[in-house]
Amino acid sequence: MTTVKRIQYHQYGGPEVMRFEDFRPIRPGPGEVMVRVKAAAANPMDWKIRNGELKIMTGRRFPRGLGHDFAGVVTAVGDGVTRLGVGDDVLGGASMKAAGAFAEMVVAQEKAVVTKPANLSWEQAAAIPVVGLTAFQAIVNTSKLQAGHAVFIHGCLGGVGRSAAQLALARGATVGGSCSATAAHEAHDLGITPIVEFDFDATKLAGRFDVVFDTAGTLPIKTAQALLKPGGRIIDINPTPAKFVRSALPGPYRVLIGKAATADLDAVAQAAGKGILRLPVARTVPLGQAIAALTELERNRTPKGGKLIITTE
Ligand SMILES: NC(=O)c1ccc[n+]([C@@H]2O[C@H](COP(=O)([O-])OP(=O)(O)OC[C@H]3O[C@@H](n4cnc5c(N)ncnc54)[C@H](OP(=O)(O)O)[C@@H]3O)[C@@H](O)[C@H]2O)c1
Repeated sequence: MTTVKRIQYHQYGGPEVMRFEDFRPIRPGPGEVMVRVKAAAANPMDWKIRNGELKIMTGRRFPRGLGHDFAGVVTAVGDGVTRLGVGDDVLGGASMKAAGAFAEMVVAQEKAVVTKPANLSWEQAAAIPVVGLTAFQAIVNTSKLQAGHAVFIHGCLGGVGRSAAQLALARGATVGGSCSATAAHEAHDLGITPIVEFDFDATKLAGRFDVVFDTAGTLPIKTAQALLKPGGRIIDINPTPAKFVRSALPGPYRVLIGKAATADLDAVAQAAGKGILRLPVARTVPLGQAIAALTELERNRTPKGGKLIITTE
């Protein structure tokens, strides 16, 4: 197979280890699909993995590709793949171990790839997988939120927070949340109320929520507990060893790690196709210029207010 361009790195480390280089993809194995990437989206997990924070799971083989979320066209399928075929327009996520979506070609597990709704652009489709799936698994699968329930989302305008807010509102739940003061109007426009700043006073909101979803991982446990109704649950998606221990104990607190699940990703894609889930695109850059944009996002958390999208054409 001929070489393609991708962003990769030869050792774990900071933004300086990223390279834009040639790479020779290998044919998809059993249960895998190869996709010509049209657009990919950045997530904090991309730089956490590249920094080596998850090397117990991602191993020590280099070079390693970067990036998980993508949208594109299937160009080859491995043995046993029946749901998807060559020429299908899809969106999905590369596995944490393989990564490699910031590329002209990526190989992913079929179960982590679904049909792209025709009315979504490549950029809109690429923005969905990690944040939409994690939000869906928190709000729908774990919390089973429905009309009459109330959720508080800490970091309600990040990728996961915004997705969770829209999915919860679509199910008839009410959503309160925290965001920076300058962005409060955006939360208001989504239908979030009450809206507070990140360092809010929990006593004013005590006992009002069935679910507290901490997307930032910064909410003190006592604050989260104060917000809960009796029998409510706290979901945290930013694990540490101490948080895993707490999560294993009886009580309302649980760490959630998003998992590839075709039905969930398909539900999220459908929600986006129907306009229920909208993820703003803050910036679009071509693959050849993406290292500078990824570095800026990681170091300065800019651009704010939406996803950084990388395009291949
Ligand atoms: N466990 C899993 O499966 C899983 C899956 C996806 C993501 N994650 C993790 O979840 C986190 C959020 O992901 P994301 O994609 O939503 O990231 P994101 O789009 O960068 O959003 C982060 C949000 O947190 C807000 N924020 C900043 N400082 C805060 C604070 N002190 N308190 C509360 N919120 C604060 C940011 O607001 P400003 O923009 O105003 O600064 C932003 O809206 C990341 O750490 C990511 O690695 C975990």
